Amino acid sequence: MQSARKPDATILIIFGAGGDLTWRKITPALYNLFLDGWLPEKFAIIGLDIKDLSDDQYRERLHDGIDQFSRSGKSKSEDWEKFAPMINYRKADFTNQETYNNLSQQISIIEKNWGEKSNRIFYMAIPPAFIEPIAEQLGKSEIAEDKDHARIVVEKPFGHDLNSAKNLNKILCNIFNECQIYRIDHYLGKETVQNMIAFRFANALFEPIWNRNYIDHVQITVAEQVGVEHRGGYYDNAGALRDMIQNHLLQLLCLVAMEPPVSFNADEVRNKKVDVLRAIRKYKNEEVHANAVRGQYDKGWIEGQKVIGYREEPGVNRISETETFAAIKLFIDNWRWQDVPFYLRSGKRMTDKISVITIQFRPVPHHAFPTESLENWQPNRLIINIQPEKEIRLRFQAKKPGIKMILNPVEMTFNYDHAYSADSPEAYETLILDVMLGDATLFMRGDQVESAWEIIMPILDKWQSTSSIDFPNYASGSWGPEEAEALIARDGHNWIMIPAKTLEN
Ligand code: BG6
Repeated sequence: MQSARKPDATILIIFGAGGDLTWRKITPALYNLFLDGWLPEKFAIIGLDIKDLSDDQYRERLHDGIDQFSRSGKSKSEDWEKFAPMINYRKADFTNQETYNNLSQQISIIEKNWGEKSNRIFYMAIPPAFIEPIAEQLGKSEIAEDKDHARIVVEKPFGHDLNSAKNLNKILCNIFNECQIYRIDHYLGKETVQNMIAFRFANALFEPIWNRNYIDHVQITVAEQVGVEHRGGYYDNAGALRDMIQNHLLQLLCLVAMEPPVSFNADEVRNKKVDVLRAIRKYKNEEVHANAVRGQYDKGWIEGQKVIGYREEPGVNRISETETFAAIKLFIDNWRWQDVPFYLRSGKRMTDKISVITIQFRPVPHHAFPTESLENWQPNRLIINIQPEKEIRLRFQAKKPGIKMILNPVEMTFNYDHAYSADSPEAYETLILDVMLGDATLFMRGDQVESAWEIIMPILDKWQSTSSIDFPNYASGSWGPEEAEALIARDGHNWIMIPAKTLEN
């Protein structure tokens, strides 16, 4: 959401600088910001981690990550040579006061050379258990004291449940003001997700029909082909509800359902999102079964490759009851959305990788056409493809060419690749630049995170207290367990299969 200005002088301090996130996402994003001219003239990275590495060894590791994961491809040596000197590394014990004294000295030296005070961004690219001790140490030292210049970035998962999220918010808010805390949900940085704000609030066309009078139901699917990869240890304590639904899918739902903001001020936008989350009906224990389905993947086939079941994955308990798939039906109890079901589902090891929002409109109130015209009739549908295809498709009925009046569904499509030649920035580029600029619009506010936990807590509690006797209950390479089909079929709908690029005529 940034305006077209460069950030002020910035020092980015990365806790967990040796980890996967820094290697795959953060530094490739910084490198692309550098190539596109978005980094300030005065910019430095201080990486902190447990390993003993020299600056040069560390730079080489990041170089390798950039070459593998940067959207602009392999780095050119003349660019890398300009970028590399900005990177510094320090072996550090995050719980030791000494680390923070040294860090403070290093920051002072850099600022003295620059001749000005800089923004100090503390990036928590670390497992959640470290956030609290690091925040406390930052609170004790003077490096985060200047509230106009210090910011903290916290990755998801933000807490493990409602209580731990509240606790973490309390700890962070004792040290930082809310406007200094940037809770990342990387979905909000995706180009197609940001475009939903433009689509809804820069067009007068859709707003009059964007409500319960015209919309029959909404589906949000975030399906992945990958399994838990090397993250079995983390994932087995998380599961699909915590890992995807509590954050990414609920954020997508907010963008579909929120009221128009008065301005694009961070708090204005986030107030409207919190209103949605607060209006979502919370289930009672006995209602969970009818409205939520869980699944766990078994072995199977993905794109012709045999893959193992979840319980065989490294780091996963052999009798794990963690869900790798979740589907839930939600209602938003407000004037705009009363009684319109929102179906959300997300899973790993599914048939396809696709993130898509489908808005299904109500049928016409009366069919004046003869029965034979209607054989192929389908209701209007708006499909917002978040990834991998980046497009918006609107389906409507047309007359099939010929002597007779036969109706047939057709589509109008806006596709990013056809409409624009420029590459979209990666989510992390947008988000990191926003932190540097001090724009929190695309980040989760403390009350937003807590409201999201409140929605899923009854489901988590129910699932934790009842054994999932049928696990594993879906084959890798399928669309999830049969119960997920039943969840939506009970209302007379089915999960809409999107991957086919064009509808058949
Ligand atoms: C992360 C989850 O937040 O999002 C992962 O922890 C998941 O489990 C990932 O794979 C999906 O992100 P994307 O951008 O690939 O859809």
